[in-house]
Amino acid sequence: MKFLLATDLDNTLVGEPWATIGLNQRLAAARQQFYLVYATGRSLDSFRQLQQEFQATTNTQLLEPDYLVAGVGTEIYAQGQLDQEWAAYLSQHWQREAIKKIANTFPALVSQPEADQNPWKVSYYLQPAPINAPSSFISAANLQNLPNQKSNNQIIDDLRFQLAAAGLPAQVVFSSNRDVDILPYHGDKGQAVRYLQKKLQVDSQFTLVCGDSGNDITMFQEQTLGVMVGNSQPELLEWHTAHPETHHYVARSTYANAIWEAIEHFQLLASP
Ligand code: GLC
Ligand code: MG
Repeated sequence: MKFLLATDLDNTLVGEPWATIGLNQRLAAARQQFYLVYATGRSLDSFRQLQQEFQATTNTQLLEPDYLVAGVGTEIYAQGQLDQEWAAYLSQHWQREAIKKIANTFPALVSQPEADQNPWKVSYYLQPAPINAPSSFISAANLQNLPNQKSNNQIIDDLRFQLAAAGLPAQVVFSSNRDVDILPYHGDKGQAVRYLQKKLQVDSQFTLVCGDSGNDITMFQEQTLGVMVGNSQPELLEWHTAHPETHHYVARSTYANAIWEAIEHFQLLASP
C-alpha cells in the first residue's frame, strides 16, 4: 500500500539544495511506494518558477508531485488542472470583498502583490508600526511608555475579532512573523491534505506531513504523522509545545534531510 507524503516547499523541501537533491534521489528510487503532495503558500505560477530555478541552479529536477496544494490550501492542482470540486466547496460562504474591506482598515497590513492573491486567498504583509519620533528622543525609560504599540499577535487577534464580529467566516494564518493569509474557513493546507487522503484512500497512520512555519500548523492539526524540520520557525515550535502529540516530532536535521529522517523514523518505506 502506498503512503502519502505531503510536504511544504520553502524552508522544508527546498532551502538547502544538497539536502533536496539527496532526498530526491532516494525518493525517486521508491517513487512507486508513495503519493507525493506539495503543500505550499505559493501559487501555481510561483511553483513553476521554483521548479525552473531549482533546475537551473542544481541541474536536477524537483520530483513531479501527484497533487499541488497551492495558495496555503486554497487551490488543489492535478497535472496543472484546478480541482473544481475543491474550488466550489471553498466558495460557499466566502465573502472575499467584504473581508478585504475590513482588513484594509488595518494600517499595519500591506497588501501582497497581485500574483500572491487568488479568489480564495487575501494576503498581506504585517509591518510593524513606525515609531513617530527621532530615535535620539526615545530614552530607555520612555520606550516602555510609547502609546499602545500593538504586538503583531494583538493585531492578528484584532483582525480575527473584527471578521468574526462582521459575521464573515474566515481564518487568519500568520507565518514567519510577517505573512498574513486570510482564507476560507474550510480552506487550508490541513483540510486540503485530508481531502486528498480521502480521494486517495490513505489512512492517517500512512500519511506524513512536513513543515516549518505557521502556515503548516493546520496540517499538524490533522491526525496524520508529522515532522517539523529542525529549522522550523518559532510559531510552529511554540504551537507544538502547546499541542504535543506522539505522532509528531521535531527533527534533528534541517530542510529536506528532516523529511528523510522522518520517513525512516516512521518506517514508511519498505526495506529494499
Ligand atoms: C507564500 C505565499 C504568500 C503567503 C506565504 C505564507 O510565500 O506566496 O502569499 O503569505 O507563503 O503562507
Ligand atoms: Mg515553509
